[in-house]
Amino acid sequence: MPVPERLNPAFSSARSPAPDLLEEARNRLIVALDVPGPAEAIEMVNRLESSCRWFKVGLELFVAAGPAVLEPLAERGHSIFLDLKLHDIPNTVAGAVRSAAALGARMMTLHAAGGPAMLEAARGALEGVANPPQLLAVTVLTSMDAVQLAATGCSAPVAGQVELLARMALAAGIDGFVCSPQEAAAVRAFAGPGAVLVTPGIRPAKDQTPSRPDDQKRIATPGDALRNGASYLVVGRPITNAPNPAHAAENILKEMAAGLEAWAC
Ligand code: C5P
Repeated sequence: MPVPERLNPAFSSARSPAPDLLEEARNRLIVALDVPGPAEAIEMVNRLESSCRWFKVGLELFVAAGPAVLEPLAERGHSIFLDLKLHDIPNTVAGAVRSAAALGARMMTLHAAGGPAMLEAARGALEGVANPPQLLAVTVLTSMDAVQLAATGCSAPVAGQVELLARMALAAGIDGFVCSPQEAAAVRAFAGPGAVLVTPGIRPAKDQTPSRPDDQKRIATPGDALRNGASYLVVGRPITNAPNPAHAAENILKEMAAGLEAWAC
């Protein structure tokens, strides 16, 4: 997957995006289905599937509905991001990764803070598995700022902790990272063009959702996240809480397409 070789600070978002950039943006937008159950998930997918190709199943939906909730998404041809953020002893995480690998997700998450042994065990659990999901290590949650991080006993600056965790995960053979769009450029610089870089904490320039501010601390616009080197953007409430989710998704895709123009420069 191509990543920006050069960034273009002179970029202007005033022009309409080219259709091919909009299509490319559709391949890179992951909608977080943070809803209470399968009925709400399907309703949201019905509203969004003409605009969006990726859906994220996270803890709220997975705990309520179980693995079966992935089946209708896969049957409809959507790409699935299974965001369980595993964090346990190596043997337990390896078992969970093995179980999850059979569910048809293309990407899944585990916490880098579980340490090198846990990450290596997760990697090893996928050896010999056909069509394994890509393993993504969550660095520092986008809801955490320096105060929140310090409260966990980590006195490093957030950006430094993200880099430490991402380098550790890279050495353990992990495919990519989840970080905030604010650290994306730094992570991309050392991880290289082949790493998958997923950024939540996306807040559109034209946000129509009524509930700002929320729990996300390290945020950026869709265009800036891509200019910084993100491969995929995860967006939840700015789409799912919007009065018209499909309309909100299309606006975000336009902002993403504008950001992708920088990649071609
Ligand atoms: O609603 P919002 O756009 O903030 O949703 C962000 C999604 O990304 C949530 O589903 C959240 O669990 C997930 N996520 C995150 N920060 C991370 C990893 C995942 O916000 N570091």
